[in-house]
Amino acid sequence: MKTIRPIQRIVTGTHQTDGAGVKLVRVIGRSDVEDFDPFLMLDAFDSRDPDDYIRGFPWHPHRGIETVTYLVAGEIEHGDSLGNRGVIRDGGCQWMTAGRGIIHQEMPQAAPRMLGLQVWINLPRKDKMTEPQYRDLSGDLIPRVSEEGRRVGVICGSYGVTAGPTQGDYVKATMLDVELDPGATFTLPTPADPTLFIYILAGSGQFGPDGETHASHRALLFGPGDTFQATAGENGLQFVLFAGHPLREPVAWGGPIVMNTREELRQAFAEIENGTFIAAPQT
Ligand code: FE2
Repeated sequence: MKTIRPIQRIVTGTHQTDGAGVKLVRVIGRSDVEDFDPFLMLDAFDSRDPDDYIRGFPWHPHRGIETVTYLVAGEIEHGDSLGNRGVIRDGGCQWMTAGRGIIHQEMPQAAPRMLGLQVWINLPRKDKMTEPQYRDLSGDLIPRVSEEGRRVGVICGSYGVTAGPTQGDYVKATMLDVELDPGATFTLPTPADPTLFIYILAGSGQFGPDGETHASHRALLFGPGDTFQATAGENGLQFVLFAGHPLREPVAWGGPIVMNTREELRQAFAEIENGTFIAAPQT
């Protein structure tokens, strides 16, 4: 018999300004680490006013995490200390493994609407200092499965027999962009233990065994069970689903750097100070 995962936490997050003045909603953050492990942070952007985001996130460092940016609509230019330059566009994803150190910038461009997410995935202790890597998962690399009343974009992991462009090199993860027509139901068999949450981008729906109704711009964390289920409300529903095994390792978090101990954090900031944080100079 199926056990439908119940809603365990409802998170709306807080309005914040980050980078050089980008208005965003920090949906999950450092006080949520235990519940959302291995996911550390989720920022959501939804604006029709370029003034909310045009100042962007100029050059800044990361270590010990992966940052994954998924844009439903809009355009973000990026550059990094590995020499990568490019643009994330509608339906595209940028998957950056900071590993032992990367310096990058993320600059949203003016668009009719910017709608998207950035999630930070923690790296296991043994992989914190891995080689930094950047992957441009443009929209054409993300398979879109069309079923009756459902469209599922497979950003990471797989959906049925459809595999996404990555399975996660360090943390095996699932990231699906799910769009449902009014009244359509989406059911996903899941292993019982991994962390699973969704962020509702648009519309509303019914979730969990009791069919609780929730609308857009909030995250729902689900408890144990072997099945995730959602049914769209009268205006349809779009959400991104995230799942992954918890690392259950100590977290020492200092702004853009997330390590396991305070000493490792101190070391990272000392390297930034003395210019040895990344092996190759920024180009
Ligand atoms: Fe960043």
